[in-house]
Amino acid sequence: MTKPQYRQRAIVQREELSEDYFILWIWDEDMGALCKPGQFYEIRALAVFEDAPTSVSIPRLFKPISIYDNQGGRIGFMIKRVGLGTNALSKLKAGDTLELIGPAGNGFPLAEDRKILLISGGAGYPPLWYLQKKLIGQNKVYWIHGGATGSDIFPCDEMWTEDGSIGRKGRACDDLENTIKEREIDLIYSCGPFGMLKEATRISEMYDIEHYSSLEAYMACGIGVCHGCTVPIGTKEDWDYLRVCKEGPVFSAKEIRWEIM
Ligand SMILES: Cc1cc2nc3c(=O)[nH]c(=O)nc-3n(C[C@H](O)[C@H](O)[C@H](O)COP(=O)(O)OP(=O)(O)OC[C@H]3O[C@@H](n4cnc5c(N)ncnc54)[C@H](O)[C@@H]3O)c2cc1C
Ligand code: FES
Repeated sequence: MTKPQYRQRAIVQREELSEDYFILWIWDEDMGALCKPGQFYEIRALAVFEDAPTSVSIPRLFKPISIYDNQGGRIGFMIKRVGLGTNALSKLKAGDTLELIGPAGNGFPLAEDRKILLISGGAGYPPLWYLQKKLIGQNKVYWIHGGATGSDIFPCDEMWTEDGSIGRKGRACDDLENTIKEREIDLIYSCGPFGMLKEATRISEMYDIEHYSSLEAYMACGIGVCHGCTVPIGTKEDWDYLRVCKEGPVFSAKEIRWEIM
């Protein structure tokens, strides 16, 4: 694994996807050659806050954002506006400067000749987009994505919304058992809210299916120093706290000690 590097890069394009989501694109062939699906960058909006007093500390924190796409160095970050940091990022436009540290984390193990299910919720969509591009062609891939409203929904095979405005009404895991059986799924990759990942893990364990989950955690340093992002990983008898930013964010779902998180 290469050491995360600090860079400043101009935003070459900004795309508005929905009320809540946008994409920032940068260009760096060297960085593109290092990126793997499931890895992330710590990013922050330099331009918006460069004149702000140092007391404006929260928006100046780097925010972990997955690699959404990488087209030979044209790297995209798909971001949901939720709070101060992501709203600061949302003010950036083409030509503004982004500060980046990465690529960070381990990424998803890639597979061949498998029947794969991708399952995501809300802002769990971006890392699976990059992942499916690497899997399609070598595997059969089926993707379920869910969100609270239509604003959380993006291209995939099966869509779910809690308010029923797009796709099926309910949550992404509601019909998961049927999908697993009908499509003879033998490998699952998941990313999304805690409840969704926990439920997907329960079901994948019932059917004894290999399953990798990308976890979210609050990150202060993002580079393995503060130990603020640790999660309990291992077997019931033998587990330890591992760092989401360093040993993760992708873990074997059955090794995550969901019951004590
Ligand atoms: C490895 C990793 C990859 C990520 N990839 C993406 C991505 O590709 N696109 C994307 O939009 N987001 C992604 N996130 C989530 C993103 O980092 C957070 O939404 C962001 O840090 C929130 O910062 P903020 O300052 O805007 O909001 P804050 O002011 O920090 O929080 C606003 C609200 O969001 C909640 N919140 C904030 N961070 C988290 C979190 N990590 N988990 C759960 N709830 C949270 C808070 O409880 C609060 O209610 C990723 C997170 C991790 C750890
Ligand atoms: S965020 Fe500091 S160790 Fe992970």
